[in-house]
Amino acid sequence: MSRHTPSMAVMVAAARKAARGLQRDFGEVENLQVSLKGPANFVTAADRKAEKVIFQELSKARPGYGFLMEEGGVVEGADKSHRWIIDPLDGTTNFLHGIPMFSISIALEREGQIVAGLVYNPISDEMFIAEKGQGAFLNDRRIRVAVRRELAQAVVGTGIPHIGRPGHQRFTAELGVVMNEVAGVRRMGSAALDLAWVAAGRLDAYWEANLAAWDVAAGIILVREAGGFVTDLNGRDTMLDSGGIIAGNETLHRQLADVLKKAHKPA
Ligand code: IPD
Ligand code: CA
Ligand code: CA
Repeated sequence: MSRHTPSMAVMVAAARKAARGLQRDFGEVENLQVSLKGPANFVTAADRKAEKVIFQELSKARPGYGFLMEEGGVVEGADKSHRWIIDPLDGTTNFLHGIPMFSISIALEREGQIVAGLVYNPISDEMFIAEKGQGAFLNDRRIRVAVRRELAQAVVGTGIPHIGRPGHQRFTAELGVVMNEVAGVRRMGSAALDLAWVAAGRLDAYWEANLAAWDVAAGIILVREAGGFVTDLNGRDTMLDSGGIIAGNETLHRQLADVLKKAHKPA
């Protein structure tokens, strides 16, 4: 069993409250799918509503903490040492298409260090949580990264850039080398869940470029507390700024980092 700190209890309560709205709205999206108008505006509203709920809940429980949110941006707090990092709906494209693979992601930073992370899939009701030094948990069960040591047996998650996003050539080069080395590549559509799934040993490793801090902040502590390694694409600890990420157990993390380097060697 996990022993939550009061801060984690606050995060779980906020996520569950926002999730109730997302569950309802996801049901509605499935209906709107067949209407001519389509669900796009509806989804934007669902996203904002979820963020507002989380913002209100966390502000009530921890007055003064700052915020970094995907929709609302930066909200400075009186307490400069604490900040919430929030993506109220990670996997918007899936949500919009009625694909039940999206998440709420909430991280807590203390003095610039991530000390707690939560990733919740409201459809599968899977709650991934981790606090510094306390291990990582899925619905109160301890989770660990996979133990595979060969890329050839590894299933590796990633994110594929799409229209309007940078990094198409880079990704094509990376996939070109990675797919030759691994047992399978998956694109699930929620970076936060990808990291949570690495923590749970479902994905053996994961890499992606051009992410935002709110996509990865909670997932990073989940992977680390599950015994895994996370760096940016240059092997540094600056994932929140650089937007690149590689995660896995120590061996696969290193191997994947080496393979990705090959993709960027000048021909
Ligand atoms: C996206 C998801 C996706 C990743 C994108 C992100 P959003 O977040 O995490 O998996 O590949 O780069 O922007 O827009 O659904 O919150
Ligand atoms: Ca996101
Ligand atoms: Ca989002």
